Amino acid sequence: MPDRPRVFVTRNLPGDALGLLRQTCEVAVWPDQLPPSPDDLRREAATTHGLLTLLTDHIDATLLAAAPNLIAVSNMATGYDNIDVADASRRLVLVSRTPGVLTETSADLAFGLLLAAARRIAEGDRYVRAGNWRTWGPEIMLGPDVHGATLGIIGLGRIGAAVARRAAGFGMRVLYHGRSRNTQAEKEVGAAYADLDALLAQSDFVSIHAALTDDTRGLIAARQFGLMKPSAILINTARGPLVDHDALYEALRSGEIAGAALDVTDPEPLPADSPLLALDNVVITPHIASASIATRSEMARLAADNLLTSLAGAVNDNAVNTEIAGDWRAAAAARLHS
Ligand code: DGY
Repeated sequence: MPDRPRVFVTRNLPGDALGLLRQTCEVAVWPDQLPPSPDDLRREAATTHGLLTLLTDHIDATLLAAAPNLIAVSNMATGYDNIDVADASRRLVLVSRTPGVLTETSADLAFGLLLAAARRIAEGDRYVRAGNWRTWGPEIMLGPDVHGATLGIIGLGRIGAAVARRAAGFGMRVLYHGRSRNTQAEKEVGAAYADLDALLAQSDFVSIHAALTDDTRGLIAARQFGLMKPSAILINTARGPLVDHDALYEALRSGEIAGAALDVTDPEPLPADSPLLALDNVVITPHIASASIATRSEMARLAADNLLTSLAGAVNDNAVNTEIAGDWRAAAAARLHS
């Protein structure tokens, strides 16, 4: 039996997360800025009991098959579409994530992107730096008002509801669509439930906060853009593949919608020759919605905590495949001895 569980962390982490892990585990950390390649990850996973991963690490069936001692994967993200959870469950590997701690920070960025796209903030900055600012002009850089406009939120979970609260502060009318009703947000900010087509047709801004699943991939595609107002602005801070990017480009280019603000793209990073980069009516940031100093430290700490709880043989509160708990405990105990 190893004295201490072996843990592999796929990137250096902010805050005290690594220190926490090192108190009870043998910890190896991938030293580069870029993620480990699938081969590197497989090699490290082959001998490890716990993996602390990021959304850039693909934990697929091939990786899991090469990790016979693996007890738990702790993803430092609220989304976990980078992990084949069904296969992890088959192999009795507990998967966990870091919800909650990034809610307000992510909502700040979503609302910031909404403002940036509407009020042409990034475009204005480029205009000034390019030396084009020659005078104050009555028709320069006009955009739609945010206050008083209608915001359609797709996915009124924790982050969607936090965006709705910000919208209420701007006097916006909030519509939402999701798998289930959020009666608390309905009461708190007067959000009204709508079916997706009606939400798209009525909203001045559409902000996506849904999880990426087989059902939601390509949720916003050519037909959906066709329903939106020509003045509408789409904001996506959830996952890139929720939006069909060819259709998005066409909608932005042709004026079918007025603009977009994306913190997530498909693929990530966006290739340098992506046609989206040539458009002025799209604002793009590099998947930084949760990137405040405090929140990233808190996400790292929670991911470490989830992993340590799992390695101690207990199902942590943020596990996503709790249905395997019974068989998993026995398998985890056996794997710790190998
Ligand atoms: C998440 O947590 O899923 C975000 O996309 C990264 O913060």
